[in-house]
Amino acid sequence: MSVQIKITKTTHSKLNEVDFNNIPFGKTFTDHMFEADYINGEWQNAQIKPLTEIPVHPGNMAWHYGQAIFEGMKATRDEAGNALLFRPKEHSIRFNKSAERLSMPHVPEDLFLDAIHTLVDLEKAWIPPQTGSAMYIRPFMISFDHTIGVKPSDTYKFMVFVLPVGPYYSQPVKLMAFPEYVRAVVGGVGEVKAAGNYAASLFPAAMAKKEGYDQVMWLDGIHHKFIQEVGTMNIFFVIGDDIITPNLDGAILKGITRDSAIKILKSKGHNVIEKPISIDEIIEASNSGRLKEVFGTGTAAVVAQVATIKYNDVIMNLDTSHVPVSTMVKDTINGLRNRTVEDTFGWIVPAKGV
Ligand code: COI
Repeated sequence: MSVQIKITKTTHSKLNEVDFNNIPFGKTFTDHMFEADYINGEWQNAQIKPLTEIPVHPGNMAWHYGQAIFEGMKATRDEAGNALLFRPKEHSIRFNKSAERLSMPHVPEDLFLDAIHTLVDLEKAWIPPQTGSAMYIRPFMISFDHTIGVKPSDTYKFMVFVLPVGPYYSQPVKLMAFPEYVRAVVGGVGEVKAAGNYAASLFPAAMAKKEGYDQVMWLDGIHHKFIQEVGTMNIFFVIGDDIITPNLDGAILKGITRDSAIKILKSKGHNVIEKPISIDEIIEASNSGRLKEVFGTGTAAVVAQVATIKYNDVIMNLDTSHVPVSTMVKDTINGLRNRTVEDTFGWIVPAKGV
């Protein structure tokens, strides 16, 4: 399938209103968006146009039964001003895995990638040049039928918009693990990017916030002791000489930054172990002084160091002034993204409009 994308450009760019040194995450949108409609079993009307609201019927099934999926990606630029995408094909693959799980149609890889390449190329002047800042790319799909009744929709909308963003976390994060709330169970939708996963996380996240914690560190839904992930990130523990991250058991989001971090760490000779790890093992490692670093990985966060973990009455504080492992991963990803680190992995793809 080769898609024709119709492009209508804005006559009123808002670019000169943006202060790239002060961009709150998720609030500043660029001038254009991509949209395509799935009607009669086919993707059609692929177009880029000035960013605007979309008319949605109150009976839209996405609002009632939750057929809504998304991706988070980033574009950066090199010194020459070229827009660079990070592992875009992996995001396309994961998007379609999310679509399958929620009984939504695939977005063909060339449609997904052409939409992103063309939109990012058009908006590349919006990519902040500062290291750690980027253009966040948000592809998403929602059902578009208006019918009351639980069944898959027949029509869908696939859209992409982009935002210049600064760092998601400006300082090391504090995590709280609850014995009583769970994010996902094996067999559910936890390993894909279903919008509802994030809705379900909000109430426990608010409880953690009330106690001064930034995010929930989720424990598994059966034993309530094995660590899964953090609200917006996968998680890694440096214990002695090992780097341990929970294995992808079907309930944990298949993070692309997680995968990148594992490959970077292994390429530098680190011993990375993917296995179930319980909160009790973390407490024990902390008590014995073997818990050296904890960090999260995600597209928005990139790599975020963890300062504190709370579980019941136990509070574990980490020394975030000496975090060589997570700093190396973060610097490598940021360096790959602005081409100051050689891309031996083949992850960086220049954005080219079609
Ligand atoms: C991302 O890291 O891209 C996410 O989707 C997490 C969050 C911003 C929802």
